[in-house]
Amino acid sequence: MTVIYIDEEKGIDANDTPGTVASPFNSLSQAYLQHGPEKEYRVRKKDEGEYKPAAKAGLKKAANYADTQRKKRAAAADRAEKEAQEEAAREAVLAQAKDIKIAEDPVLPQAVLINIGETDPQVIGLRVRVQGRVHRVAKQGGLVFVTLRRGLDMMQCLLSGTLAKTYDALTLTRETSMEVVGELWNVPAGLHAPLNRELRADYFRIIAKAPGGDESFTNRVPEDGDATTLLNLRHLTLRQDKASAIMFVRDGLESAFHTCYKELGIKKVSPPALVQTQVEGGATLFSLDFYGETSYLTQSSQLYLETVLASLGDVYCIEKSFRAEKSVTRRHLAEYTHIEAELDFITFDQLLAHLEHVICRVIDLIWENPIAAAKIKEYNPEFTKPSRPFLRMRYSEAIDWLRERNIKNAEGSDHVFGDDIAEAAERNMTDEINRPIFLTHFPVEIKSFYMQRADDDGRVTESVDVLMPGVGEVVGGSMRIWDHDELLAAYKREGIDPSGYFWYLDQRKYGSSPHGGYGLGEQRFLAWLMKLWTVREASLYPRFMGRCTP
Ligand code: 4AD
Repeated sequence: MTVIYIDEEKGIDANDTPGTVASPFNSLSQAYLQHGPEKEYRVRKKDEGEYKPAAKAGLKKAANYADTQRKKRAAAADRAEKEAQEEAAREAVLAQAKDIKIAEDPVLPQAVLINIGETDPQVIGLRVRVQGRVHRVAKQGGLVFVTLRRGLDMMQCLLSGTLAKTYDALTLTRETSMEVVGELWNVPAGLHAPLNRELRADYFRIIAKAPGGDESFTNRVPEDGDATTLLNLRHLTLRQDKASAIMFVRDGLESAFHTCYKELGIKKVSPPALVQTQVEGGATLFSLDFYGETSYLTQSSQLYLETVLASLGDVYCIEKSFRAEKSVTRRHLAEYTHIEAELDFITFDQLLAHLEHVICRVIDLIWENPIAAAKIKEYNPEFTKPSRPFLRMRYSEAIDWLRERNIKNAEGSDHVFGDDIAEAAERNMTDEINRPIFLTHFPVEIKSFYMQRADDDGRVTESVDVLMPGVGEVVGGSMRIWDHDELLAAYKREGIDPSGYFWYLDQRKYGSSPHGGYGLGEQRFLAWLMKLWTVREASLYPRFMGRCTP
């Protein structure tokens, strides 16, 4: 009988191992798998000098292993054959499907072109024509269910009979744009479809196909894709349910601010983005060459808003602000949308009351839009409208609050008066208190040059940060220094050359007034409203350190 050799130390398990003394196997199971029962097996164990006949137990184990492997291989071969047959059948169906031609029936009533979102009840029973992109396709029996999307509006379309057998129906891919014609009917009770209706197609035509396979939309931007891929392909990600819902609510949010400001008689202006002055410190300025002069992308429109109080009264703007933030956090952007307002002849208390009103009114207005409200509830089911009055807490009280809880500052020591309250500590506060907080009266040293000192404590400013649970600071505001010489002294203290600010100083020269205002970060507000992990999700095409594309 042929002898097969196994050397557990030096042998090699390969398909072409002969199993000789010169070239033995490494394991009995592999040797047995390749040579079967009609052989004699000799094994040299590790650290043993001689080959010995394989033990009975070892041979039995090897035989079982070989048997299992053979069965597995046979099953895999069966599967592959079945798949090949199915594929061939599919190909045959598709080949036949290519010969099926469909045309619109001229005898049917003229179809009325409607929007997918049309809610006029008169369209029920009517022959209509709609255009959109495929959001979902499902094949069931001989039917093809297509959810057609136009913007946020969806319509279920049912392709049946010959329509469902065409090549285009059988190969329909997500994002393909198409036109569907047929009668619109309510779906039977208990079945679900957008607006409880479906278009029973008698004709459809593809307007432009979208790729399938590796290049398919869902392959390129899967719902649970990693953050970098989704950002690299933001132009496609924006077609996903959540991204489009956020952009929809954002649109409603901006409208709500416009409405609220109009209700208050506050005028909208549009200050420049290209400036030569800083507002919030030199560290986050983006500079650029403006025809040979050093200029910056604005950090805030505040100073310009202040200058028009005398000509227009209270004003607001919704403009871009730019911050060359060196840190990459989930709430910092390099370019963000800044909602800023400036109010004339007011007190600090009036400023706080105004802010409380605007925030609550804007949320009420958004809630009046049923679609926006539904989207907010979908992504942030626990959202409740904040109750008034907001909690008011002085900076010095916040320092005590943090000390009592042993929450450390950025250096890892106890917080002391004068410390910046870092993002993590601020998050601790908002998460525990879990309601909007007006954090007021920050020390002069940690705030911007333009802030008015408090009458009752010269160490602090009449300033406010509005903190929201989950996000932290969404608004920064203050009363402004309105005395000319006091402002000059502030420039000096901060080491800023006041000459570039002649226009800002002139405001204090020609009929100055106590005034104040604030800036609200739209992306942060939206992140709070919709419980977004990061403000990046609240930007159409987010810009932050390391990302300026697409
Ligand atoms: O607190 P900030 O820096 O205040 C100002 O710019 C004032 N000049 C505004 C004013 O009084 N008119 O910024 C105001 C708000 C912040 O509370 C935050 O919501 C947002 O702007 N913000 C940012 N949002 C995203 N990314 C950044 N890098 C942001 N920096 C500020």
